[in-house]
Amino acid sequence: MILKPIFGSSHMLVFLAFVASLFIQSCVLAVEFPEPVTKCHFADEKCMIEQGHKLMKKAATGVPERDIPALEPLKLDKIEMLGDKNNALKVDLVMSDVEFHNYTKARITSIKGFSKDLSKPMKIVSQNVNPRITIKSKYKISGNILVLPIRGEGELTMILDNVKTRFTTTLKAEERDGKHFVYADTLKVETQVDNVHTDMTNLFNGDKTLSNSILQVMNENWRLLSDDLTPVINEALANKMKELLSKFFKDIPYEDYFLTD
Ligand SMILES: *[C@@H]1O[C@H](CO)[C@@H](O)[C@H](O)[C@H]1NC(C)=O
Repeated sequence: MILKPIFGSSHMLVFLAFVASLFIQSCVLAVEFPEPVTKCHFADEKCMIEQGHKLMKKAATGVPERDIPALEPLKLDKIEMLGDKNNALKVDLVMSDVEFHNYTKARITSIKGFSKDLSKPMKIVSQNVNPRITIKSKYKISGNILVLPIRGEGELTMILDNVKTRFTTTLKAEERDGKHFVYADTLKVETQVDNVHTDMTNLFNGDKTLSNSILQVMNENWRLLSDDLTPVINEALANKMKELLSKFFKDIPYEDYFLTD
């Protein structure tokens, strides 16, 4: 996937990084977060990254106080790719009971954009790297890859190596009772991956010869699938992130997030 958005993989990470970053600040939450999450100064990126890592670790097992489920694995109901975007790949793929494993294991490399000035939207950019993310789901597929037919229904496993993610979000503030509360207005995920390896059980009703040869073609040409699947996964993850973020942000005034002196 070249420098293309790759499967939602990193998104989650990004999201986590992001949440983390947000959280960082939400030291106010210290009460609700047993972990030693501490407040940072606006310009103290190193401090934010540290808090981000603590938060991802925390989110892996869930934050019941904030209605956040365990994010290891991260679960999505359904991802659908209905595709005839190009000649090489004309495939309909429906993934259900989707799980992203290792999302919370990302290493955050940067978090930028938090500002004292709430009069205009803030653009927050965070980046992270994840050595390996695995997507597991049920799948149903039909179509053609490089003119070869593919069809089947079973279990899918997709391994993404060295996933780099950039998460860009626009935060806007609204005022309630003299305090400012921020929410994610837009959210974008971009990813690059070094390799994707896909396995699917029960292709062609379990015909081993046909399965093995189509999987080989798919894996030798992994960008074909990932280029089309990535935007769909990104979107599903972005929606999920918005939902989770809103839970994190809801009750904490922005004023309380950072050290002010
Ligand atoms: C999770 O990440 C670790 C460290 O990179 C890796 O060894 C492991 O295989 C990954 N697990 C999955 C399910 O991808």
